[in-house]
Amino acid sequence: MTEIQKVGVVGAGMMGSEIALSFSQNGFYTVMSDVTLERAQQGKDNLVKVLDKRVTKGKITEEEKKKYMDGIKPASTLEDMADCDLVIEAAIEVLDVKWDVYKKLDSICKDKAIIASNTSSISITKLASVLSEVSAARFIGTHFNSPASVMKLVEIIPGLLTSDQTQAAVHAVLTKIRKEPVMVKDVTGFALNRLFHAFYLEACRLIEEGVCSVEDVDKVCLYGLGHPMGIFKLLDLTGHDLNMNVDQILFDAYGDRFRPSAYIQRLVDAGKLGKKTGEGFYKY
Ligand SMILES: NC(=O)c1ccc[n+]([C@@H]2O[C@H](COP(=O)([O-])OP(=O)(O)OC[C@H]3O[C@@H](n4cnc5c(N)ncnc54)[C@H](O)[C@@H]3O)[C@@H](O)[C@H]2O)c1
Repeated sequence: MTEIQKVGVVGAGMMGSEIALSFSQNGFYTVMSDVTLERAQQGKDNLVKVLDKRVTKGKITEEEKKKYMDGIKPASTLEDMADCDLVIEAAIEVLDVKWDVYKKLDSICKDKAIIASNTSSISITKLASVLSEVSAARFIGTHFNSPASVMKLVEIIPGLLTSDQTQAAVHAVLTKIRKEPVMVKDVTGFALNRLFHAFYLEACRLIEEGVCSVEDVDKVCLYGLGHPMGIFKLLDLTGHDLNMNVDQILFDAYGDRFRPSAYIQRLVDAGKLGKKTGEGFYKY
């Protein structure tokens, strides 16, 4: 089994930078690239705010913050990942962009390197289809949750050609960085998004049918289900454009049980996308 020591992350956006931090805060040296060195550096700089908050709260020391930051090297080219044992792609959710990254990584990385994707909606088997059968055996899905440096769940999704060794190596390294990996088949929405969307679509039906108010559904989540946050507060944070996109993907795959919510469609049509636009289910 490949022992993973050095990690690469492609895409230094919201997920990529936090994934790089998940590794560096557990002692793994991590190279993080984006389309330019400036974008990669920007992704790294965004982590300063995240870590400063932890220092203020007394969760980590200034020395630890420096160590975690020093453990992430911004890069502009994939060539910097030639000696990585695992490269996680967290670039934008566009098939051609991801395929291009894999083809390049496949020619640059060492023979035993594992390539993983953080995709939330594209089939892992389809993503691997640009690779040879040998390389596809070393390709896998690793679906982190946001904020990735805090959330413990990672869904591991083997494609049809992913080898057992690849699955075992990825499971081992995720356990080392103190995640709680779960094995999930390569189906649309994997496990988390199927549960999440089924739950919140029912919450939307409760308000559409006039059964309860938005605030009261959130109270049910907090005080009845023990959730840390009400479902509508959470949906306002994730953004209704993204929520609708994923609803549509699940609806296309599974039909009526994921029919998008008319209420959320109206919020999107009105430009009320949640906290980022100042209004969604709540006003900010
Ligand atoms: N946002 C979430 O909550 C979430 C959760 C789980 C998984 N995901 C998945 O993670 C991936 C990244 O999402 P995000 O929210 O971080 O997006 P983002 O837009 O914040 O970041 C994407 C980054 O990819 C970069 N990029 C674009 N083309 C590239 C290329 N060819 N090479 C390298 N970098 C490139 C962009 O410059 C950008 O910095 C997507 O596949 C998404 O579906 C997102």
